[in-house]
Amino acid sequence: MTTNYDPIAEQYKRSKQMPWRTFVECYTLMELAGNPSSLSVLDIACGEGFYTRMIRQRGAARVTGVDLSQGMITLAQQQEDAHQQGIAYIVGDARELPVQEEYDLAIAAYLLNYARTREELQSMCDGIARALKPGGRFVTVNSSPAFHFPASPSFRQFGFETKAVGDWQEGTPITWTFHLEDGPFDIENYYLSVATHENAFRQAGFSEVRWHPPQLSPEGLQDQTDDFWSPLLENSPIAFIECVK
Ligand SMILES: C[S@@+](CC[C@H](N)C(=O)[O-])C[C@H]1O[C@@H](n2cnc3c(N)ncnc32)[C@H](O)[C@@H]1O
Repeated sequence: MTTNYDPIAEQYKRSKQMPWRTFVECYTLMELAGNPSSLSVLDIACGEGFYTRMIRQRGAARVTGVDLSQGMITLAQQQEDAHQQGIAYIVGDARELPVQEEYDLAIAAYLLNYARTREELQSMCDGIARALKPGGRFVTVNSSPAFHFPASPSFRQFGFETKAVGDWQEGTPITWTFHLEDGPFDIENYYLSVATHENAFRQAGFSEVRWHPPQLSPEGLQDQTDDFWSPLLENSPIAFIECVK
């Protein structure tokens, strides 16, 4: 299990091709991001640049990707070098973002669930809020703070499983196992409650906080039936949040 993405950067990149990612995760996050035309966008915990490239393709004027993992940033930069989109990638920690009120939109897919304590979550939210212009928006997807991971059903039909062992309390580790054709790999993140998230957003200076359920794209419904998708949509292990500074 790891929170260090250097050794699993390539596997993680392949896991982004899973249909649930495309039809639910990506669809919902991009719906929340809206039309980024003429906006400056910061993708925090950008990984190998999956959403960074997408937001630029969708018309963002200026895009920066930042991630803690050198391995992830190397993969992102290689793709930028091969097909130049004018994206700037930097290695950096979300808790110490070196930017001030420069961005209209910040996105972060699976960053906040790396905070193990309310203090760590607060530093992430403070850094994100500082990076945004007044009125700027932050949209994010994470392991859902409202989902009870110790009693998780199987999500094997989607290509992953989740579990949490031990007492269910602030900081309890959550394991996600992704099943790829050449075998599984695990990542670990951490539980912090809905209330802890709400407090961190407000203290960071976000005036509006909205929680959104996952949505299924029309293509997802063509690909599989309602019954197939309902376990992921009705009691979802992922949650989407939108905050306005
Ligand atoms: C599950 S990956 C998601 C990558 C990308 N957002 C995506 O959806 O494809 C989580 C990423 O968070 C990064 N990360 C974890 N803690 C971080 C921090 N404090 N600052 C910046 N990046 C961080 C990891 O290096 C990893 O690349």
